Amino acid sequence: MLTERLRQLDQAHVWHPFTAMSAYAKEEAPIIVDAEGFFLIDDQGRRYLDGHSSLWCNIHGHRVPAIDDAIRAQLDRVAHSTLLGLSNQPSIELAAELVRRAPAGLNKVFYADCGAAGVEVALKIAFQYHRQKSGGREERNLFACLGQAYHGDTVGTISLGGIDRFHSLFGSLMFPALRVPSPTELDQSTIDTLDRLLAEHAGQFAGFVIEPLVQAAAGIRIHPVGYLKLVRELTRKYGILLIADEIAVGFGRTGKLFACEHESVTPDMLILSKGLTGGYLPLAATLVTDEIYDAFLGDPWKGRSFQHGHTYTGNPLACAASLASIQLFDEHKVLENVQRLEVVMREELAPLNTANPIQNSIAQVRQRGVMVGIELVRDRQTMESFPGPMRIGHQVTLACRRRGVILRNIGDTIVLMPAPAMPESLVRNLCRAVVESLHKVLANPRPLDV
Ligand SMILES: Cc1ncc(COP(=O)(O)O)c(C=O)c1O
Repeated sequence: MLTERLRQLDQAHVWHPFTAMSAYAKEEAPIIVDAEGFFLIDDQGRRYLDGHSSLWCNIHGHRVPAIDDAIRAQLDRVAHSTLLGLSNQPSIELAAELVRRAPAGLNKVFYADCGAAGVEVALKIAFQYHRQKSGGREERNLFACLGQAYHGDTVGTISLGGIDRFHSLFGSLMFPALRVPSPTELDQSTIDTLDRLLAEHAGQFAGFVIEPLVQAAAGIRIHPVGYLKLVRELTRKYGILLIADEIAVGFGRTGKLFACEHESVTPDMLILSKGLTGGYLPLAATLVTDEIYDAFLGDPWKGRSFQHGHTYTGNPLACAASLASIQLFDEHKVLENVQRLEVVMREELAPLNTANPIQNSIAQVRQRGVMVGIELVRDRQTMESFPGPMRIGHQVTLACRRRGVILRNIGDTIVLMPAPAMPESLVRNLCRAVVESLHKVLANPRPLDV
């Protein structure tokens, strides 16, 4: 009874993001009512392994006692109070903890309430910083970003976006940004192209926004080793702020707490969200250097303060969840677990790269840490895509769902993103369900029948 009622109300009133609503209505998607560990449970009592960390944010599983207790304890004190001219205990303690763990030199924390808002904060800080910095104000209005970049869905962040499916429709709304080719290898031509592009517009760039190491929403595109370091050297050379968007790659997914650590890079700004609260509550943090922060100081009436703020900035419940989640990284040795899982996933997915009946449809299996993208094509030799109406990637996620695994595809790339703390046995089950689903769908690809 309850199921019927919920389904009717869902269809009557809820508009789901990035969802083809006409098809959704026919798919009878699970209605999640409960969770236990790394499983989501629907209204029928069916259990699903959360194979994409509830959209790349869950870290330690669901209903984690330490995080639940931290939120409850905070709830007994105060649920929300503003940071505009006031403060609250969890946001102070969290800021200190983030600074302690982030690359050295990022000493100030500005909170927002979702990833895209965290990126918007960074863009506006960069814009205002150059106009107020010591050593001479500059009107730098341009941002550099990568080909196939994704940094969120607000109008500012889509201006940096380079994924046609998500962004091209909104072209006339966007501000101009200069796109640098997403690197595939780090050869002399990559280095020269980047140097030339940055040099040509050097005095105009306010910042270079980059997802370090892995472009997640581009379908888990992995950068060559050394590229981030190169970007750091060149942005420094041309006085451009390096803005690292670690919203997807941060909090352990690449095997270190922050992806920048792999190349010993300190960006000028570091943006965190998603895993920041263990995947519990919405929160973002934009960390900046003292040099940037100092440019916003001065006599209060001179208008140098940062002109930005969100109602739920530094929400105490979210900050309390975050503090508890960060603590668990140490207690449960989560980063060591990711290093183990990286090997396990490589091993489980290796058969996709060897001779097998569906090999011709596997264009590439890309992996860094526990982030995996399996790109599907109709013909691997010609790289011909499957026809759009077949929604082959979506078919694979539906096949996974029938096997008790929740995943999401990005077009025809299947993304696996287990929680960094997931036990090895569950990660093996996840990979096996995906391989089985790929075989089921690709052995005899047909049009989608919903
Ligand atoms: C790299 C990156 N930046 C920004 C965002 C936007 O975050 P949110 O969806 O919380 O606005 C995402 C979301 O997937 C992301 O992957």
